[in-house]
Amino acid sequence: MINFITMAGIEDDTPPTKPSTTEEKDKTNPPTEEQPVEETPETSERPSKLPKTTTTSTMIPSPPDSSWPDAWLMPPDECSDQKAPNRRSPNVTVTAPQLRSLGISYWHLDPSSYTYPPLAVPWNPQDSPDPKLSQLRDERGYSYADIITVHPDTLPEYEKKVKSFFEEHIHDAEEIRYILGGSGYFDVRNKEDEWVRIHVKTGDLITLPEGIYHRFTVDEGDSIHAMRLFIGQPVWTPFNRPCDEHESRKWYVKEFLEEKKEEAEG
Ligand SMILES: [Fe+2]
Repeated sequence: MINFITMAGIEDDTPPTKPSTTEEKDKTNPPTEEQPVEETPETSERPSKLPKTTTTSTMIPSPPDSSWPDAWLMPPDECSDQKAPNRRSPNVTVTAPQLRSLGISYWHLDPSSYTYPPLAVPWNPQDSPDPKLSQLRDERGYSYADIITVHPDTLPEYEKKVKSFFEEHIHDAEEIRYILGGSGYFDVRNKEDEWVRIHVKTGDLITLPEGIYHRFTVDEGDSIHAMRLFIGQPVWTPFNRPCDEHESRKWYVKEFLEEKKEEAEG
């Protein structure tokens, strides 16, 4: 199974197809009893049961802003070494409020107190040994999970796969990653279409909203052990940029870019 695993979404090796209609999504993400039904936001035309990409409401508090992952702007030119930090000079920090304004949510848990397998595809989220993880699972409706390890010794064609994770893409669902060990970088585009690099480490649970342009890479440690969670049946398909006409991208722009821009101008 692991040979088609990718970190940024377990994007399988099949070429992206476009399941963008509500009807098609209904087939791939059937509702379950555990899956909360979210009301369609008034400001968008989202199908009714997609992930709660616009809220961080949960009984598990998000850490204070000072405890969010380090994040910074990357240089505008293409980076020659994707695993390097790639900071600007001088460094330009990206704050927790700025990350939240892009639709990113964050929590911190303690995986070191529990035992997780290096590889489990799938991994039953009902098997969670961590009460905090269980609570997040239940409150946010995460009904699927698996656990992977991206490391040269465990992932065939490691360097090739790592390069493939770095393709800029979106998904038509929220991307949820809980880092059980190791570290890596999620890069996301900000409102100015600049790359923001987010350094995720052990204990970080981060969500990227559907439709956000992003990519992933391991860092120079070359190792990350992560749990991937999903609401409903997992669909990892990446839609590589450009895909501005994709329903999820249009929703994201309307929800997080256009409206925020208007507020800033107002
Ligand atoms: Fe992804």
